This record gives sequence, C-alpha cells and structure tokens, in this order.
Amino acid sequence: METDAVHPRVLGYLGRALSLELSAVQQYMTQASLVGLWGDEAAADRFRQETVEEMQHAERIVQQMLSLGVAPAASQLHPVTHAADLVGLLQHNAVLEQQLIDHYDEASRFCQLVGDQANGEFFAALLEDEQHHGRDLEAWLQELGGRRRRGYARYGAMAPANNGPRGTSQRNPSQRDLSRRASF
Ligand SMILES: [Fe+2]
Ligand SMILES: [Fe+2]
Repeated sequence: METDAVHPRVLGYLGRALSLELSAVQQYMTQASLVGLWGDEAAADRFRQETVEEMQHAERIVQQMLSLGVAPAASQLHPVTHAADLVGLLQHNAVLEQQLIDHYDEASRFCQLVGDQANGEFFAALLEDEQHHGRDLEAWLQELGGRRRRGYARYGAMAPANNGPRGTSQRNPSQRDLSRRASF
C-alpha cells in the first residue's frame, strides 16, 4: 500500500501506538531492575519477559510504518510510574495496558470504518495481544492479593507496616539502604 493511500489518522494511530509500546518497554524494563533490587527475582524475570514482548510490538509497528513508507517517530514517552510494592506497580501497569487496549480497539474500528482491511487486521492482532496481557496481569494481581501481607513483609522497607525501628533493625543494613535508594 502506498503512503498516499493510507488515511492520515491511521498513521497517527501507528505513531501513538509506537509511543505507548516504547513507554511500556521503559516501564517494564525499569520495574525488572527495581524488583530485582527488592530481591524478587521471579517478578524481575516476569517483567523482563514483558519488556521483550512490548519491544516486539514496537518492532512490528516500526516494520508496518516502514512498509507504508513513513518514518517511525514516537513523539513522547510516558514517565515511568512508581509504587511502594509489587501490587502498586502492577496496578499502574493495568492502567497502561488498558490504554493500549483502548488505543488498538479504536484504531482497528477506525480502519474498518474507512475500509483499510490490512491496517485493521494489524491493529486487531495487537489488540488481541494486549487483551491477553491484561488478563495475565489481572490473574497476577489476584494471586498477589491472596498473599499481600506476606509480600509486604518480604519487601521490608518498601512496606507501609515496616517503617519503625523494630521493623528495620532485623534487616541487613546494605539491603535496607538499597531498598531506600530503589524506592524512587
Ligand atoms: Fe504491547
Ligand atoms: Fe502489553
């Protein structure tokens, strides 16, 4: 398809999609490092895997834009959101994933409206992936909800209930300092 055959709004949807996907890459990559500092390697691995998946989405968008003859140019990355524990991080991620879902839903419906089947299918495939992410995230949150108190105890200084001297005195001082630095 030549560039002049593509509706300008479809190019706009692609550009915003790239910004959102790269924002997700930045957010999940940061979270992988952060929870690694908290000592939760299982969560760090999970965030690393999500980072790769969002990077692959960004790559698909770049390829799609190149095939349409336009230069990829993500306009603005969203700042990384922060939280004091894993549940808080995941709640922020649910907001970002919902933004992606809403964006791809709107983009694919617009393509249908203007009869752009190829781009409509492209956005619909990404929509399906993000809906899958959303369901995985919801399941992870539910799983953590059942062990939230234990999770707080594990994260030490990040936990609202462990701010007093009694709570901090049992931890290794270097770990405590690391947790504080990592709370950004
Ligand atoms: Fe994505
Ligand atoms: Fe996602």
